[in-house]
Amino acid sequence: MTPQRTVLITGGNRGIGFSIAEEFVAQGHRVAVTARSGSGPAGALTVIADVTDAASLDAAFTTVEAELGPVEVVVANAGITRDTLLLRMSEDDFTDVIDTNLTGAFRTVKRASKGMLKARFGRIILISSVVGLYGSAGQVNYSASKSALVGMARSLTRELGGRGITANVVAPGFIETDMTAALPEDQQKAYQQSIPAGRFATPLEVARVVTWLASDDAGYISGAVIPVDGGLGMGH
Ligand SMILES: NC(=O)c1ccc[n+]([C@@H]2O[C@H](COP(=O)([O-])OP(=O)(O)OC[C@H]3O[C@@H](n4cnc5c(N)ncnc54)[C@H](OP(=O)(O)O)[C@@H]3O)[C@@H](O)[C@H]2O)c1
Repeated sequence: MTPQRTVLITGGNRGIGFSIAEEFVAQGHRVAVTARSGSGPAGALTVIADVTDAASLDAAFTTVEAELGPVEVVVANAGITRDTLLLRMSEDDFTDVIDTNLTGAFRTVKRASKGMLKARFGRIILISSVVGLYGSAGQVNYSASKSALVGMARSLTRELGGRGITANVVAPGFIETDMTAALPEDQQKAYQQSIPAGRFATPLEVARVVTWLASDDAGYISGAVIPVDGGLGMGH
């Protein structure tokens, strides 16, 4: 059985992050989420942080360490989209998405690694997306930010793997959250037809994979990209 761990999830006030936090709580772990507003599920500690601001993340980690102990499992989940076609995409549309999804993950992991190196144990889980490797028209910014997480996890694996730390990527397909609800209905239908499973997933279906990756059962898995996409992205 996996011992109880201290877990921190960024962007845990809604969507996939909220569900991941709920699942870790249900499995008996000590759970904290970061939020810019609102709060995580019952049983989780909510700390205010913005992943674009290293100082706010540092303060959030310090609070979590004081209340729950050193962070052993970190889930870099916070993410945004600014979808538009390349010729309409402003440089701010591009750099804002990179700053949150990629540099935000870097800031989170860097801060978490301090305690993990000391403990010689850690689980780093980066929430990417099927479009990171599949590509997507209108998402040059988002897909670039998400594929870069694969290189990050693999370099982390090579750098930290000898210290009992694993780093993996979870690549969800279409999940029922605010992010997909924002898509036009005809686009949602078209996507559903292209997914071999014929449906979107629930956030819980992602959460269960994340908690498994954090468990002792997954201790020898590192640098992997685990798809949770109903078969949409097969072949890479
Ligand atoms: N839904 C999907 O189909 C899908 C598919 C593949 C990958 N993903 C990825 O899964 C992750 C979660 O997505 P979701 O669908 O749950 O999205 P969501 O419902 O839009 O929630 C996004 C979360 O990220 C937080 N966040 C955004 N910018 C932040 C910042 N600068 N600092 C701190 N937190 C920030 C949001 O906080 P606020 O409430 O404060 O905005 C919110 O908690 C994202 O990385 C997304 O790219 C989602």
